[in-house]
Amino acid sequence: MSKRVLVSGGAGYIGSHVTVELIQAGYEVLVADDMSNCDLTCFEGVKKITGREDIPFVKMSFCDEAATEKLFSDWKIDAVIHFAAFKAVGESVEDPLKYYGNNLNSFVNVIGAARRHGCRNILFSSSATVYGEPDKQPVTEQTPRKPSTSPYGNTKQICEDILRDCVAAYPEIRGIALRYFNPIGAHPSALIGELPRGVPNNLVPYITQTAAGRRECLNIFGNDYPTPDGTCLRDFIDIVDLARAHVCAVARMLDDKMEKEYEIFNVGTGRPLSVMELVNAFQKVNNLKLNYKIVPRRAGDIIAIWADPTLANEKLGWKATRTTEETLAAAWAWEKHLMGKN
Ligand code: UD1
Repeated sequence: MSKRVLVSGGAGYIGSHVTVELIQAGYEVLVADDMSNCDLTCFEGVKKITGREDIPFVKMSFCDEAATEKLFSDWKIDAVIHFAAFKAVGESVEDPLKYYGNNLNSFVNVIGAARRHGCRNILFSSSATVYGEPDKQPVTEQTPRKPSTSPYGNTKQICEDILRDCVAAYPEIRGIALRYFNPIGAHPSALIGELPRGVPNNLVPYITQTAAGRRECLNIFGNDYPTPDGTCLRDFIDIVDLARAHVCAVARMLDDKMEKEYEIFNVGTGRPLSVMELVNAFQKVNNLKLNYKIVPRRAGDIIAIWADPTLANEKLGWKATRTTEETLAAAWAWEKHLMGKN
């Protein structure tokens, strides 16, 4: 009998890619999503890629405690990956209660229901945002977390702490937090990818929409940073590589390979790339010219951060494999797929 993994927020950008990789690795997947920040485009894409029309889907919010309880009593769930959360940094500053209310309550409900229904394994979708502006590069899992600069970032820190404390208190559960660096790109099939609502905040969706003519000009936020070319440095991680890290982490839990009951892993490439280098690579691999200009720095941006992914390489047996060029070609193919639909 294959094991069943609940993917909360499974219709979204990361959740849909993870669902594909889990199914292709032989797991049964139960997708649940409240559809507050996506439509069914990616879920339909997941069905096409996997050839599985029968993937169960439940439309629900994990803030609804009774609905969460019912889901865990209706299905035998061996592991849960919790993605369901709001993720817009700026909005979280304007409306912190929306973020604390949703991101914390939903996770508390998931852990409580998992515990009560014999689901031992909980994987939390965390972020490199917990490191703030690091004093030393690359960051390891031991690099101290810094006080968060946004309620969104704070919910990632608090959820990590909730999981750590619950695992310490309740022997019937164990957990892994994956700290993602900057996930970008799309599935090579171009059937699933990032679908931002409104004006994108993140770099790559803004680039692809500019290339598609949906935005007039890409603003590059600052070229006077203390970095080699003056633009910020990031660790851009391909979304399919990122998704595969989840499969490795789920297998580690289900196969009883964990060394501690609560583990944290960085998920990044270990290679810093500047914003300008990324823009140039996008133009080159896709053979197009992007309309861009340098504008002042964006408030709150981190100057530089990249991962030391050694722990994930060694303990999860996972490594980023896709090149920046492949990733940026996939991102553009996805945008073109969307253009064809509109
Ligand atoms: C942001 C969030 C982070 C969150 C992550 C989710 C901030 C400060 N950080 O990370 O908490 O976990 O998204 O994906 O908001 N850039 C441009 N022009 C643009 C957009 C971005 O120059 O139109 C630059 C930014 O200044 C930054 C880099 O591109 O240097 C990456 O930006 P972005 O994709 O927004 O990610 P982060 O800021 O790293």
